[in-house]
Amino acid sequence: MQSSNILEVESLSVRFGESRAKAVDGISFGLTKGETLGIAGESGSGKTASILSILGLHQRATVEGSAQFEGQELIGADNKLLNKIRGKRIGLVLQDPFAALDPVKTVGHQISEGLRASGWSKKRAMNHAIHLLEEVGVPSASQRVNAYPHQFSGGMRQRVVIAMALAQDPDILIADEPTTALDVRIQKQVLDLMKQQCESRGMSLVIITHDLGVISNYTDRIVIMYAGKIVEESSRLKLFDQPLHPYTQGLLDCLPTLGHSENEYLKTIGGQPPIPGKLPSGCRYHPRCAFTEPACTNGNNPPLVPVKWGRSACIQLEKFLKESQ
Ligand SMILES: Nc1ncnc2c1ncn2[C@@H]1O[C@H](COP(=O)(O)OP(=O)(O)O)[C@@H](O)[C@H]1O
Ligand code: SF4
Ligand SMILES: [Mg+2]
Repeated sequence: MQSSNILEVESLSVRFGESRAKAVDGISFGLTKGETLGIAGESGSGKTASILSILGLHQRATVEGSAQFEGQELIGADNKLLNKIRGKRIGLVLQDPFAALDPVKTVGHQISEGLRASGWSKKRAMNHAIHLLEEVGVPSASQRVNAYPHQFSGGMRQRVVIAMALAQDPDILIADEPTTALDVRIQKQVLDLMKQQCESRGMSLVIITHDLGVISNYTDRIVIMYAGKIVEESSRLKLFDQPLHPYTQGLLDCLPTLGHSENEYLKTIGGQPPIPGKLPSGCRYHPRCAFTEPACTNGNNPPLVPVKWGRSACIQLEKFLKESQ
């Protein structure tokens, strides 16, 4: 099937070890060139497992389904193909910049390593590393290129990791909780930087987060995951204006309101998300949902169906939309 999507994920499922329980259960989504997509959901909903499995980075996982990058199948692909795509065509930024960096190599060495492996001379690769550090806003880049990761603050370290991810000019940048380890002021700077780099390079961006607030200003489209499933997909503006699933509404209700003071407790959704292998019958969200009807508790989790401006997996959508106005 021909698709205009640069990345097309279809019925992706992930199981760990010997377990038959699916941590990711048949998710499908697409990403177009230059698009910014947010994937959000509470911790444990399967966001990281999905992304790492697409890139073949989960050693102990059984992965089923399809993930095509420019029409090339990544699921089950050999390392030769994956090594051509990982880092080079799809860059990855993870939550902990310390873990992503080697403490005993200078940041310049680490940013330029991939370029040198692709045949660049040492001088040219190092000059490009300096240029990238300047681009991501590291001051005195020509000196700092010789510094080690521990000589940078948390925010600056994440900028170095972004420079590393951009070094080979990828078509997609995937950032998994890129700002969770950073304080709020620095979070915005790092998100602004990624968005601006995507726009200037025509690169697609996927931001994964447990905090919808992080992507409230940054993505074109948002996918909401709950217990291994996608429960809503919508444009960002529509999702914040009129969510299509009670779980999304629950996440939005937990966001701080304007004028919220630091001492004020934030609301949380009551109860806990289920763990793989211990899922409730019917809609997986029903034990926590304020709109539950008897019909929600039987059979399988409702499928994701197109409705109005997006897709939703709630069988009581009309009731929800009416009562949540
Ligand atoms: N390597 C692993 N081995 C076993 N279970 C895992 C592993 N990684 C993740 N899981 C389980 O898969 C589920 C989804 O995890 P994850 O994708 O990390 O969630 P998220 O990124 O949304 O917080 C969780 O229940 C988690 O415990
Ligand atoms: S299907 Fe039922 S339980 Fe699930 S989100 Fe909709 S109303 Fe709530
Ligand atoms: Mg995660």
